[in-house]
Amino acid sequence: MYRENHDSPLKIPFEIVEMTLADVNDILEIEHLSFPTPWSKNLFVKEYHSQNSKIFLARHPYLEQNKVLGYICTWFVCGEAHILNLACHPHFRRNRVATNLLEHCLGFSFKNGVKKAFLEVRACNHEAQALYTRYGFEPIGLRKGYYSDTHEDAIVMFLEMKSQPFFK
Ligand SMILES: CC(C)(COP(=O)(O)OP(=O)(O)OC[C@H]1O[C@@H](n2cnc3c(N)ncnc32)[C@H](O)[C@@H]1OP(=O)(O)O)[C@@H](O)C(=O)NCCC(=O)NCCS
Repeated sequence: MYRENHDSPLKIPFEIVEMTLADVNDILEIEHLSFPTPWSKNLFVKEYHSQNSKIFLARHPYLEQNKVLGYICTWFVCGEAHILNLACHPHFRRNRVATNLLEHCLGFSFKNGVKKAFLEVRACNHEAQALYTRYGFEPIGLRKGYYSDTHEDAIVMFLEMKSQPFFK
């Protein structure tokens, strides 16, 4: 899949592809820039090898460095998709990278008969909540003090896909 991303003021082109092991260091860099308690390299490698997981990347087709613009990691279990991780490199935010990753992931789920998607998001993360809400995710619960680093609450969000997901 290749997207010209005409909406972007920066006109960043990117393609959505599956992660390879060669991408893990680029992913880790973004992870460390994005989260107070980043996933380890081992965790990404474990998810890469897991039959239940998929990691999709937004990749710049020309750049030598910073080739990976963002990624989404999803766990598929019992007919449900659990979005475990989503981030975009700070230099490339607001270019619809996360939007396209989420749409690709939900489209992949739907095509494979998975119609229910869950995720957890920090209560203070209004940017991510706005993105998920656009795709029809709704809050269904609160996990008090879920994040051990900041003791923040996690909002549990749920989406039931009745048709192929599309950007609202
Ligand atoms: C949240 C995150 C993934 C969004 O990535 P992105 O590629 O910049 O997102 P998009 O460009 O696709 O934005 C889609 C929508 O999300 C919302 N959004 C994203 N960033 C926002 C911001 N800084 N302020 C307000 N809304 C924001 C907006 O509704 C936006 O649509 P718009 O640009 O038409 O207003 C990115 O900010 C990030 O990596 N944050 C750190 C990690 C993180 O919080 N991950 C989510 C964990 S649950």
